[in-house]
Parts: sequence; C-alpha cells; structure tokens
Amino acid sequence: MDSQNTYWTDRALLEWQVELGVTDAILDTPVDRYALEVVKPVPKAATPEKPVGTPEIVKAPDVDAPALARTAAQTAADLDALSGAMQAFEHCELKKGARSFVFSDGNPAARVMIVGEAPGREEDRAGRPFVGRAGQLLDRMLEAIQMGRAADNAAQAVYITNVLPWRPPSNRAPDASEIAMMLPFLERHIALADPEIIVLMGNTPCQALLGRTGITRMRGEWVEVLGKPCLPMFHPAYLLRNPIAKREAWADLLSLKARLRG
Ligand code: URA
Repeated sequence: MDSQNTYWTDRALLEWQVELGVTDAILDTPVDRYALEVVKPVPKAATPEKPVGTPEIVKAPDVDAPALARTAAQTAADLDALSGAMQAFEHCELKKGARSFVFSDGNPAARVMIVGEAPGREEDRAGRPFVGRAGQLLDRMLEAIQMGRAADNAAQAVYITNVLPWRPPSNRAPDASEIAMMLPFLERHIALADPEIIVLMGNTPCQALLGRTGITRMRGEWVEVLGKPCLPMFHPAYLLRNPIAKREAWADLLSLKARLRG
C-alpha cells in the first residue's frame, strides 16, 4: 500500500470511530507533546509531488522555556504569587513525575537564604525542602551556630529553597536545561526574599547562580551573587558520605557567623 492509500485508509477508520462516538484517542505509551510535529492544513491545489490530501508536516516551533519562565517570574509581586506562578509552569518535565511541589521552608524575613539542589524522596513526600537525612544534618549544622529554620527573629532564622522545586527521577542530578529553565524563578525568589547573605549548598546552585562548579575549590570563598555576598559550601549530603569534610564545613559556618556579626 502506498502512503496515500494508507492515509485514506487511516482516515476512513478514524471517521468510522468518530461515528461510533469516540471522542478521545489514547495510546499505550506516553506522548511527549513538546516534541510533536504540526500538521499544516491540506493544500488546496494539487501538484505532482503533493496530490490533494497529502498533509504537510513541519517541525513545531521550539518553546523558549527559560524566556517563558522569566516572564512568569517577573510578574510575581510576592512569594505567594511566585509559588503560584511556578506551580502553573508546565514546561519542566520533572513536574509530571513529582508527587509534590517544594517551594521553601523557614523564615522569609531571615538574613540568610540557603539554596540547595532539588527535593529528594523525603522532600517529595513532605512537600518541604531538606527534611531527609541531609536536611537533618543541615539543621544540626545551623544549630551549632545558633541558627535554624524555625527561628522567629530574622537574625537567627534561615530561609531555605532549592534550584528545582520538583524531584528529579531516582534523585539524579538536575541537568543543564532544567537548571536554565528554572533559574529565572530562583532569581526572582532571591529578589523577593531579599536576604542579606546567600549560602549555596553544593555544585547545583553554584552552577545555576555562578555559572560554574567545583565545590571543593569554591567552598569557603565569599563571592557575589545578584549583588549579595554569597558563600558556597559543601552540600550536607556530601558531608554524610564524606564526614572528613565536616572540618571545612565547620570553618565555613564560622565564616558565615562572623559575616553576620560584622
Ligand atoms: N537536597 C537538596 O539539595 N535539597 C533538598 O531539599 C533535599 C536534599
């Protein structure tokens, strides 16, 4: 059967199904609708290459997800609006596999804002960042410098978020396109919370906000992000795997404490 015959056979079958009352077509496997092609209207005039009825296939225009994210983020006037705009954002595939949207925890008025990577399994279940083993270690680290996410006063409080609000499958590291797509929301999050100091936990937030990785070299060195002093540190999950690095993490916590005093 040539391709034109296949087309008319398929079309007749489809029309028959519609007559029987079928309204929706579903498949056995999921469809990535962002990668779909657009079928242009059937041309009116026939040519030898394109007989009447031959659909013309063209590639769908690519969605500029970071640009859409930027527009959505910029229109958010406060943290609640930002959370709503992120939850309504449909261009990050991770959203489909995640159980929860994880926005933030702690005190938004805190002097210190901590940026992690992405929710893990526990965070995905709880809908809050840093609640698993790494989060418990983070709480103990903060306690050691008399700080914590539950503190009411801005001086002792921290505000916590992640680069990504949805859990990547099997806790894999976020990829570059996911980071770039969600970065406008993170930048807006920082602008709206307006902390005095930013702490970046591990490579992913360094990649997002500084454009580079290499936490072993970068940790402990104060840099500037969005006009604010910023301290890259080892991620608590790394410290769980490499307890020897807690010495450096302690030095960084003391540096943070000294900066807050100064
Ligand atoms: N690791 C992160 O970076 N963020 C979380 O919320 C949990 C684990």
